[in-house]
Amino acid sequence: MKDKIKNVQSLEELQSLYAETFGKNGTMTAKLKTVATLSNEERAVVNAENTELRQLFKDKQIELENAALNAKLATEFVDVSLDTQPENRGTLHPLTQSLKELSAILESFGFTLWTGPEIEDDWHNFTALNTPEYHPARDMQDSFFMENGNVMRTQTSSIQIRAMEKTGAPIKMFAVGSTYRKEMDATHAPMFHQIEGLYIDKNVTMSDLIATLRAMLSRFFERDIEIRIRPSYFPFTEPSVEFDMKWDDGKWLEMGGAGMVHPNVLKNCNINPDEYQGFAFGFGWDRMAMLKYDLNDLRKFYDGDIRWLKNSGF
Ligand code: DAH
Repeated sequence: MKDKIKNVQSLEELQSLYAETFGKNGTMTAKLKTVATLSNEERAVVNAENTELRQLFKDKQIELENAALNAKLATEFVDVSLDTQPENRGTLHPLTQSLKELSAILESFGFTLWTGPEIEDDWHNFTALNTPEYHPARDMQDSFFMENGNVMRTQTSSIQIRAMEKTGAPIKMFAVGSTYRKEMDATHAPMFHQIEGLYIDKNVTMSDLIATLRAMLSRFFERDIEIRIRPSYFPFTEPSVEFDMKWDDGKWLEMGGAGMVHPNVLKNCNINPDEYQGFAFGFGWDRMAMLKYDLNDLRKFYDGDIRWLKNSGF
C-alpha cells in the first residue's frame, strides 16, 4: 500500500486511491471498524497504520501539487518589458473644471461663494428682484412652474436676494448653480448653469463693474480680453447693461447681463438704497466652458458620453 501511494503519478490517481483506502468501502475504513474487537496490541498496529497512511497521502498530495505548480511556472513567464495597460484615469467634466477656475478667480477678487435652492419661491426668483406678477419679464423666461406656485429657478439672481436677506450690506458674493428654462437647441438646454456676482457697498460704481468683468474674463481666458457694454433692460438693475467680449476672430460675443442693483431690490432685502449701492452681473457658465475648451454643442455637456468627455480637451 505504501509503495502504491509513493508511485502515484497524478492527483486524480491519488484521489481514487484515497477513496479505495479511506472511502465508505475502503480497506482502511473496514479495518478501523473492527478495532473495538481487537486486542490492545492489534489495535495499536491498526491505529499506527491509519496515521501513517494518512500522512503519506498528505505528503504525496503536496508533492504532486508542487510539481504541477512548478510545471506551470516553467511554461508561463512574464515579459516585464511589455507595455502596461494604459491607466484609465478619470477626468473632470469641462463644467467642473471651468467652475473651479472661475471660483478661484472670483474668490481672489474677494467674492464669497453662495448657493441656493433649485426650486425657488416666487419671492426670490421674481418678486424681490423687482419683477412683479404683471411684469412682462416673467414671460421673457419660459419658466417651469410647480403646481404650488414655486418655480424651477430660472436665474441664479435669486441667490443674491437670499444672500442680501441674510447678511445685509456691505456684501460681495457670487453664486453658481443650475437654472431651468423651457428651451433646447445646440446652444440652449432646459437645464443650464449661471454664475452671479453681487457687490454692494457705499462707493461701488459702474466702473468697478466693468473692471471686475474685464479682469475676470481676462484671467479666465488667460489673455487680455476686450469687453464692451450695451444698454439693456433687467427689472432688477438700473441702469442695466449687457456685456460682450471680443473673441479671437474679432467678433463680439454676448456674455451676460449686469447693472447697478435697482433701489427696489435693495429695499426688498432691507438695505437702505440711500446708503448703499452696487453692481450685479450674471452669465452662462456653460458658455464660458464652451469657449475656453472650444466645444460647440451644449447638449453634449449633459449626455454623459465618456468618449466625448475624454476628448473634450483635458
Ligand atoms: N438673471 C439674468 C438672466 O438670467 C442675468 C443677469 C442680468 C443677472 C443682470 C444679474 C444682472 O445679476 O444684474 O438673464
